[in-house]
Amino acid sequence: MAASPIALNFSETNSAEIFDERLVNSKDKSLSRVLSAVVSHLHQIIRETGPSPADWRKVIEFLTEVGHASDERRQEWVLLSDLLGASALVEAINSRRPKSATPNTVRGPFFRADAPNRKAGADISLDGIGEPLDVSGHVLDLDGLPVARAIVMTWQANSQGYYENQQPDLQPEFNLRGVFETDADGRFHYRTVRPCGYGVPDDGPVGRLLRQAGYPMLRPSHLHFMIKAPGFETITTHVYDRNDPHLAEDAIFGVKPELLADFRPKPGDEPAWQLDFTFVMVRAKQEGRT
Ligand code: BEZ
Ligand code: FE
Repeated sequence: MAASPIALNFSETNSAEIFDERLVNSKDKSLSRVLSAVVSHLHQIIRETGPSPADWRKVIEFLTEVGHASDERRQEWVLLSDLLGASALVEAINSRRPKSATPNTVRGPFFRADAPNRKAGADISLDGIGEPLDVSGHVLDLDGLPVARAIVMTWQANSQGYYENQQPDLQPEFNLRGVFETDADGRFHYRTVRPCGYGVPDDGPVGRLLRQAGYPMLRPSHLHFMIKAPGFETITTHVYDRNDPHLAEDAIFGVKPELLADFRPKPGDEPAWQLDFTFVMVRAKQEGRT
């Protein structure tokens, strides 16, 4: 079949349109819509930045390295998406919530779905290293009514800024992780240690690239939560230490005013802390969608 005249006429200005012409027989319109948008933006970036062929080879080498650095234990692509703000933007457009509801943030790479259930009040610090912290949570709906029997999963870094699955030889299995359930008043509580802020993994291609660009690779001190209850949108979020000096430069754009909390000193000889936080859940829009 003869090529259409326009297909022979690829130029700097019409490149994306010519690509689109080749999708006219697409059997999947939503795929071709996304492909068309990606190619149109990609061509625009190339026109704007004008890479030489050598520059472009470097881009391809970088993407190749990101692929090689990814496996079951480490997801360099997720890190790239998180640090470029793409993950935060996807969360934002998929969880538009009223101002008084708890916003979502990215789940991050250190979540484990197999963490054990713990009894109310349990201590999730299995090695006891760090300054003790008592956490009390309250889970409410938008009308201020308690959400009873919600499942609350929590995970956090230790007092040196490392997750248990980053240090399998140094920390006990499931250290600083646990699954709790809210009581009839929507409350839960547990004991832990105060988490430390940390640097995101920067020893791979994503870290090397962004460090060279002067990008801050820090995460302010936080606790992670995932809260599920039937009929409600799942909350996946962080609770941040309001006094952390690095809030404004969080590497993954997770800090929001609604997620700041006070780690208050507990009276006593040794440093110990307490934290109270209220989570507000939104009813799910459709059956089965969380
Ligand atoms: C985290 O908070 O655990 C995290 C999220 C995204 C990238 C790196 C770490
Ligand atoms: Fe974290």
